Amino acid sequence: YLLGIDLGTSGTKTVLFDENGKAVASKTIEYPMYQPKNGWAEQDPDDWYNAAVNTVKQVVAESKVNPVDIKALSIAGQMHGLVMLDKEDKVLRKAILWCDSRTGEECDEITKAVGKNRLIEINANPALTGFTAPKILWVRKHEKDIYDKCSCFLLPKDYVRFKLTGKKAIEISDASGTNLIDIKNRVWSDEILKALDINSALLPEIIESSAVAGKITKEAAALTGLAEGTIVAGGAGDNAAAAIGTGVCRDGQAFVTLGTSGVVFAHTSKPSIDPLGRVHTFCAAVPNSWTAMSCTLAAGLSLRWMRDEFYYYENKEESSKGNDVYDLMTSEAAKIPSGSDGLIYLPYLMGERSPVLDPEARGVFFGLSARHTKAHLTRAVLEGITLSQRHNLEVLHEMGICPSVLTACGGGGRSNVWRQMLADILKCEVDTIKSKEGPALGAAILAGVACGMFNSVEEGCSKFVSRGEDKAIPCDSETKRYDAIFALYGSLYPALRPS
Ligand code: XUL
Repeated sequence: YLLGIDLGTSGTKTVLFDENGKAVASKTIEYPMYQPKNGWAEQDPDDWYNAAVNTVKQVVAESKVNPVDIKALSIAGQMHGLVMLDKEDKVLRKAILWCDSRTGEECDEITKAVGKNRLIEINANPALTGFTAPKILWVRKHEKDIYDKCSCFLLPKDYVRFKLTGKKAIEISDASGTNLIDIKNRVWSDEILKALDINSALLPEIIESSAVAGKITKEAAALTGLAEGTIVAGGAGDNAAAAIGTGVCRDGQAFVTLGTSGVVFAHTSKPSIDPLGRVHTFCAAVPNSWTAMSCTLAAGLSLRWMRDEFYYYENKEESSKGNDVYDLMTSEAAKIPSGSDGLIYLPYLMGERSPVLDPEARGVFFGLSARHTKAHLTRAVLEGITLSQRHNLEVLHEMGICPSVLTACGGGGRSNVWRQMLADILKCEVDTIKSKEGPALGAAILAGVACGMFNSVEEGCSKFVSRGEDKAIPCDSETKRYDAIFALYGSLYPALRPS
């Protein structure tokens, strides 16, 4: 057996897989995201740790599997979050998350200190508010007492892995989103660290995703029910892990996901860089490979916002009966014609990162009329999120990355309505995988490589990932209609930006 933990923004999900990659037990625990100011987003690292420990404990107990038969585990984690520890390894402040956009000024400072072109040359990415380095500079400027007490920076899943194993390290696909590494050579960049005056002693060693990062300690074993000494692999950033869990580990393969963020992700055998920084270039969870990916900050987050503000309370009964409110929302949206009768949604609830680089951008409903119903708003949100994926796919096309099929994963990937919408708006076939566990499955495969069950990530993918039968094919009349809507969608942000 292998365990995969998916440390997300809405919650942590732990899944136990058998030797054929079949999920045999799974548990999720949700936790809050704090937004003390507009555009800020924080979480308590110990909420992640407790959720990881308790989901593992429940999965181990309920599966009735002998813990020694669980050969290894790893964590797929939300990226970029800044965790700061003092010299006793205590968390110094809440983690500042990937979707936090407070660091516009610090990004300008980084660009100036390293040089815009030089930063892209070394790190492949511009300084972005969601990334980790600007957060480090923000804390140094605004909370100097905390900064001075800091003895180590970690990323979300690397913190949880440290608590489970007692070993500090940052894994490479996640380190890619710090703005601090040399992407081609997969190491911390001395040049960037020097330019930003960040002491390299605060950064733990970098490890590869499928390497053994440590072993479950006695204390973690007592808390989780796992056997002491169980192997823990490096794991990966959520998208790099989702790629492995959807079998995207070779050139030409790509996936699209609708989690809290929305991502179009392509595997590349060489670093491929957009000079305008509209999509990110990161190291893949596969050794010696890279990725090009976009990130719509409020994809599933837009839907969750709609659910919480417009649906959840009135459907409390539905929720308690186990009927998913998201299913209700998509079935309402499916009754509205494509184009939502002229209503267009821009998904910039948390500012935006790809391909619009603007932390100050905000969400918009455009074209609202008295005819529109709540279901129109819901459909417009689904379409707006999907139009944003097209906006990003067009950047990948400009970079010469033109996948012919996209594999849909994440919560949204399970919805037929959304998969067809993706095919029609992106003008690309959209298939699925049988398992619904993208990131957790990817994390389990990486763990399988670390403990020697697989010789390589590719072998793990071929043994554990199988394609689903459903394939959405673009429909001609719909793609024409959406082409016109996409043109209008694309014109709105530039037109509204000055206001
Ligand atoms: C990627 C990114 C998100 C988060 C949360 O750059 O910010 O995908 O990892 O899912």
